[in-house]
Amino acid sequence: MENILQYIESNKERYLSELKDFLAIPSVSSQSDHNGDIQLCAQWIADHMKTIGMNNVKIMPTPGHPVVYSEWLGAPGAPTVLFYGHYDVQPVDPLNLWTSPPFEMTIRNGNIYARGSADDKGQVLIHFKGIEALMKQTGKLPVNIKMLIEGEEEVGSANLDNFVKQNKELLKSDLVLISDSSMFAKGVPSICYALRGLSYLEIEVNGPNRDLHSGSFGGSVHNPIQALTEMIASLHDKNGKVTIPGFYNDVRPLSKAERDAFKKLPFSEKKYAKELGVKELYGEKGFSSLERVWARPTLECNGIWGGYTGEGAKTVLPAKAFAKISCRLVPDQESGKIAKMVEKHLKKIAPKTIDIQVRNLHGGEAAITPIDSAGVKAAVAALEKGFGKKPLYQREGGSIPIVVQFKKLLGLDTVLLGFGLPDENAHSPNEFLNIDNFFGGIRTSVHFFNELPHYWHNRNQKKK
Ligand code: BES
Ligand code: ZN
Repeated sequence: MENILQYIESNKERYLSELKDFLAIPSVSSQSDHNGDIQLCAQWIADHMKTIGMNNVKIMPTPGHPVVYSEWLGAPGAPTVLFYGHYDVQPVDPLNLWTSPPFEMTIRNGNIYARGSADDKGQVLIHFKGIEALMKQTGKLPVNIKMLIEGEEEVGSANLDNFVKQNKELLKSDLVLISDSSMFAKGVPSICYALRGLSYLEIEVNGPNRDLHSGSFGGSVHNPIQALTEMIASLHDKNGKVTIPGFYNDVRPLSKAERDAFKKLPFSEKKYAKELGVKELYGEKGFSSLERVWARPTLECNGIWGGYTGEGAKTVLPAKAFAKISCRLVPDQESGKIAKMVEKHLKKIAPKTIDIQVRNLHGGEAAITPIDSAGVKAAVAALEKGFGKKPLYQREGGSIPIVVQFKKLLGLDTVLLGFGLPDENAHSPNEFLNIDNFFGGIRTSVHFFNELPHYWHNRNQKKK
């Protein structure tokens, strides 16, 4: 073990320069002018997988962006880990709010800044580098590994379900490992055991057949922006609850034990509000912030537009207004059912003065993973060795829709081993990965693969 950790120490600079190359590729999945970069990025990963000793490296096409696959199956009798990650990133706008350019990795104050540093390229590279260290120092791995790195996670993984269905045999494994979430806080490693689901909708409101002079027509026609904002405003009541009938019907209530466990976590609502720059927190009455974000469903307006938004004033009564709405979901809500419920409700409350169209963009189910599995036990031991501290257990508010699908389609439980931080600015300007977490993550990766066979082989032994 010493020599492997020493190898990591002596290769730190090279690891960072490889991360810089990886982050320089603007693999934005939602913008088609970046399709070439997506291909470049898939190729970069495939080449990299070969250099760390992975076999059967393939760039596998899908109707959307390609999946990069590889395997190392030289440990007969040992468990097989399916490592999932994503190489696509979110758009970078607003660009002027970045302190350094989003695709030029820059280290400041112990943080590695770039789009994708935490979400998820940096976390993918963590395991590549852990595997490289094991391979270079021992010539083998303690476990079998299959890797599936996709390019459409940030746009809802629309093609991944089919990909998994069509490649069941290829992907056959014993457990899934994902590093695409955060630690509880700096210096506080954690195991994440639940993610929220998602339903994402777009609303189009149509009023008059053309933009109108607001003086000549204002007062006689319902402004579509007004109609839309009236509808959206009515979706929450004064207690911060969503007003759509049936919205909470399938919500699995929090147990007393879980609420108590959340209360014991080192979290201050005051500090949280201060760090976010809000005067007061807001949310569903009767729940703490951690409960609201981790275990309660929400409805958010992600964007709203229409009319004149350019420089100066223009007196216009617009023909159209739009909004994007998303719901974060918890077990046992179903994404498709909620999307239909929201659509039906919007159509019901839409005034007769306008026309409304609702489009379902994408969705995914919430996940809860067992915390007593062999994989989680190995992860706990690995985090303790990698970061020198016992991890705590937490949930997350974000979504990784494939987690539930891995269970449904392949029967696999997932270990969520996150190395990001809650304030990492994922999806916003100045995204970063903490440099200590990058190297702590690499050490943890090595320990995880080393520990796993032991816990795996003892997994059925009952505690006496
Ligand atoms: N890395 C995140 C998921 C995540 C976020 C996990 C926060 C834990 C905490 C992932 O890349 C992501 O952003 N997913 C999308 C999924 C959606 C597009 C279906 C999300 O949560 O918005
Ligand atoms: Zn991610």
